[in-house]
Amino acid sequence: MPSLLIRGGRIVTATDDYVGDVLVEDGVITTIGTRLQATADRVIDAAGAYVLPGAIDPHTHLEMPFGGTVTCDDFTSGTVSAAHGGTTTLIDFCLQQPGQTLPDALATWHEKIERTPPVIDVGFHLAVTDLTQGGTLEDLAAVPRRGVTSYKLFMAYKGSIMVDDETLFRVMEVASRTGALVMVHAENGDAVDVLVKKALQEGHTEPIWHARTRPPEVEGEATNRAIQLARVAGAPLYVVHVTCKDAIDPIARARAAGWKVLGETCTQYLFIDESYLERPDFEGAKYVYTRPPRPREHQEHLWRALATDVLSVVSTDHCPFNFEGQKTLGRGDFSRIPNGGPGIEDRLMMLHHFGVREGRISLNRLVELTSTNPARIFGLYPRKGCIAVGSDADLVVFDPERRVTLSARSHHSRVDYNLFEGTEVVGAPELVMVRGKVVVERGQLVGAPGDGQFIRRAPFGAALPVTRGAAA
Ligand code: URP
Ligand code: ZN
Ligand code: ZN
Repeated sequence: MPSLLIRGGRIVTATDDYVGDVLVEDGVITTIGTRLQATADRVIDAAGAYVLPGAIDPHTHLEMPFGGTVTCDDFTSGTVSAAHGGTTTLIDFCLQQPGQTLPDALATWHEKIERTPPVIDVGFHLAVTDLTQGGTLEDLAAVPRRGVTSYKLFMAYKGSIMVDDETLFRVMEVASRTGALVMVHAENGDAVDVLVKKALQEGHTEPIWHARTRPPEVEGEATNRAIQLARVAGAPLYVVHVTCKDAIDPIARARAAGWKVLGETCTQYLFIDESYLERPDFEGAKYVYTRPPRPREHQEHLWRALATDVLSVVSTDHCPFNFEGQKTLGRGDFSRIPNGGPGIEDRLMMLHHFGVREGRISLNRLVELTSTNPARIFGLYPRKGCIAVGSDADLVVFDPERRVTLSARSHHSRVDYNLFEGTEVVGAPELVMVRGKVVVERGQLVGAPGDGQFIRRAPFGAALPVTRGAAA
């Protein structure tokens, strides 16, 4: 594998910020210093650019059957799009189908990455939907040994993938023994179901009713319930896609008490508010994802929670359904609109522009939220999520002055719309490498399907040792 020397970039990690050179050999970082005397097969001039650890997206849904259809990005198209946005690892939700065993569910997801190979590295969470017909507690306990060290439970989507509290609690008990991290989509699915049925009976069919039938209180209630149950079970808890003050508050209290509770939000909740659901000509359906966009005032709470470490990660929840042919399944009935929105490519650029440039978070915090914390929380650190000798050379050379207009016309996902259509940002990836292989350069894909590989993750709180190189 050719060696690479990245010269004179501003190296930014979660804690450091300095100008230096990075030498990459055999896919790992072997030397970091200033004015290195090293030779390499290729020298990349990074003067004026940031050198960041590759972003990690721990929340994606690629080729996932859901809502009567299937998300429109597979592991090749989804990871190509991710790579263009500076993401070098993602963790996707392997979703157990009704009656399916847990080993079968994992086999299904492994088949997907063989059939449509990724260009970036990929891990899986296991989304457990049933422990009575296909899933067993024994199989569940064995899953972390296969490098899948997080279980996901949906407390909503009644009648499809929602689990009851007994299942949730049993999984938490297993997690407390196996070292897996429990992730929850926290929303009171029973209450939502009642509200949805009532709205439809009253003749409310438009997309805005998606938000009106899932108010912030049902998110707050379920978040608190999950936190308390995890505490009883002695399991660590990660609350996905937090959207509102009602959920931030119980997470803040738990963290202040020293409980192992973590929370993420997603890019879209920082920028898109409930009013988008009222866009005419059914366009509101583009913003039907769950939890729904909230009234604008919640956005400042989210930014503050990110700045104060109440929330630790920004993911994308990339769950792409085309507007034409997929979202339109729900014309005339908001509850039939497939729930999910795209965004796998836009996260770093949006957060850099509106977070860092506009003074809401520091550059170090940007790296922490999008790379280092996901790596630490999901058992990838220090192999990933940092720029250190021995770590994988997952690196982004980021031009802080490059101007980009986000659009479905230019993004690399297959999805036919962009949540941030027309947004102009300053700052974008210039070069992206995965384990020392350049996969994107100046907006062009130069990598290939198969450049990415499946990554076995360490249990919660454990390190993922580096495999080769000077520190190995
Ligand atoms: O609307 C969403 N987010 N769909 C994907 C499933 C989930 O809840 O994460
Ligand atoms: Zn969810
Ligand atoms: Zn999701």
